[in-house]
Amino acid sequence: MSNPELSNLLHETRRFDPPAELAEHANLKADAYAEAKEDRLAFWAKQAERITWAEPFTEVLDWSNPPFSKWYVGGKLNAAYNCLDRHVEAGLGDRVAYHFEAENGDRRDITYAELLAEVCQAANGLTELGVKTGDRVAIYMPMIPETVVAMLACARIGAPHTVIFAGFSAQSIEDRVKDCGVEVVITADGANRRGKPSALKPTVDEAVAKCPTVRKVVVVKRTGQDVAWNDDLDVWWSDVVDHQSTEHTCEFFDAEHPLYIMYSSGTTGKPKGVLHTTGGYMVGVSYTHWAVFDLKPDTDVFWTAADIGWVTGHSYIVYGPLANATTSVFYEGTPDTPHQGRWWEIVAKYKVNILYCAPTAIRTFMKWGREIPEKFDLSSLRLIGSVGEPINPEAYMWYREVIGGNRCPVVDTWWQTENGMILISPLPGVTSGKPGSAMTPLPGVTAAVYDESGKPVEPGGAGYLVVTEPWPAMLRTLWGDDDRFKETYWARFPGVYFSGDGAKLDEDGDFWLLGRVDDVMNVSGHRMSTTEIESALVSHPMVAEAAVVGAADATTGQSIEAFVILRESAKGGGDDLVAELRNHVAKEIGAIAKPRSIMVVPDLPKTRSGKIMRRLLKDVAENREPGDSTTLADSSVMDLIQENLSKQSTDEG
Ligand code: WTA
Repeated sequence: MSNPELSNLLHETRRFDPPAELAEHANLKADAYAEAKEDRLAFWAKQAERITWAEPFTEVLDWSNPPFSKWYVGGKLNAAYNCLDRHVEAGLGDRVAYHFEAENGDRRDITYAELLAEVCQAANGLTELGVKTGDRVAIYMPMIPETVVAMLACARIGAPHTVIFAGFSAQSIEDRVKDCGVEVVITADGANRRGKPSALKPTVDEAVAKCPTVRKVVVVKRTGQDVAWNDDLDVWWSDVVDHQSTEHTCEFFDAEHPLYIMYSSGTTGKPKGVLHTTGGYMVGVSYTHWAVFDLKPDTDVFWTAADIGWVTGHSYIVYGPLANATTSVFYEGTPDTPHQGRWWEIVAKYKVNILYCAPTAIRTFMKWGREIPEKFDLSSLRLIGSVGEPINPEAYMWYREVIGGNRCPVVDTWWQTENGMILISPLPGVTSGKPGSAMTPLPGVTAAVYDESGKPVEPGGAGYLVVTEPWPAMLRTLWGDDDRFKETYWARFPGVYFSGDGAKLDEDGDFWLLGRVDDVMNVSGHRMSTTEIESALVSHPMVAEAAVVGAADATTGQSIEAFVILRESAKGGGDDLVAELRNHVAKEIGAIAKPRSIMVVPDLPKTRSGKIMRRLLKDVAENREPGDSTTLADSSVMDLIQENLSKQSTDEG
């Protein structure tokens, strides 16, 4: 593993002990590690008591047919009941579930009783539309309360949802809808973004025109902008939902009933539909939310500053916090609208105690300067978390000092869409944190770092991050593709889950994440596949060939850099062409996939067997002298590329 930061990491000596007060009252104490080690399944049986089961399970884990797991066998439950009804029944109906705050200052406190009533209405509405248990529903929405209501209504009637991040293109919606045979799409007319309404429905219209399985499109009125209307397909959310009863008796489903599908980028081909089921997932997110954030539901205000369209939003805005009867902040908007202190204003306003966000956001705030957060009262914070990409020690220290006032432990949490729940993280009342390390697998989780040959490395070594035993919230398969599930995660090291991440163990045996070892990039905490973007570029008539690499970027972690060979007919296209190609990628995948730069090259570096050597392109993109190119079929290619680039200006924007 050649990571330039590696040797620095080895020398990190700073340690931050848990604050005494937090340690004393911590939800999970040090003995949990030993307890889980002694009998892992008994430990997971105990965590399952956090959930209300309509029928008890008879077996914790059925691993008789690996890698297909069944957790809490025979148990029956309803995810929405666990998030709402049981809290209302316990007298917590008046507790605020969400402080919803919109970009434009609109706000609404939604109590558990109100949320339950709205979810019941939506469940009745979806049922009236003919949505049945097992039917798939796609949700393409802004960050508004109806998005949570829609997810929970689906869960309540046992219709797995697939939430599609609202930045994705019509093509991406179409791919997902077709892959899992969606029948109903829930969307909105538009979203508010940076002070302006931006349309959502036209993108859905374009997608569903090509998706014969879609019977209905339910539209929430959010911005009030004009929308095209298809009477056969479109219905207003208010017409479906508002007249419904606020009561709905829920059915209890098998623990393995599908809860949702979340598409995630992989190394090859189209995004894969990661399937999560009900029982194990609910136990996993409830346990980790309680343990990692030391959540005290009666007093804490919790804020995950992420989008619901990603797994972090599913597990730590919706299912985990609601299962734990938490009061959360729910924010629609960007960190700099209307001003760069927006997040800190929100922390001060709602007296947020726990903040969870991505390093890319932290690095952006660092760039804007500490004087901005310093204008706000952040003294309510008691714990701060990080997720989605490696947090470099500088960002960790800034976060700890400037946001956490040197008193809040930082929990750097490692996990993935496929994991469903946090797997590696400090325990805030137990672990002495080290800047830049995700520290150790949580009690109940067994992870290791393997070398090439599948042997665990000793402390001090580096290699591939694996999870050696099943965990409750693990993905069950890839929707409709068991073979790809096996190949992607279980083939590299037979019998164990391979994450696709590189990691190292320091001398104490603590984990340091080193980023992906495959062709997946991490841009602002979002997973992007190089091959997917290459396919999008090649689908443009002017492009003959394309190669995409992720280059190191101080703010976004990585940036997308593309190299293209043009077809003869397109030569001489210039800046317009580059702009057109960037827009083409936005149209094919979504604006988040736009390459930062597109360099037109005469040829690409390839091995004799025709494989593109991305490593050399990465050197170019990161302004390094290209490394060893002796295995190239044509060794003059790199000179040609360098020569060509010095003539070209790149398109920023
Ligand atoms: C990366 C997001 C380092 C990793 C929850 C993983 C991290 C991918 C961390 C999953 C972390 C996530 N430190 N890297 N604390 N957390 N990653 O599926 O490369 O969007 O494989 O899930 O993000 O991204 P995903």
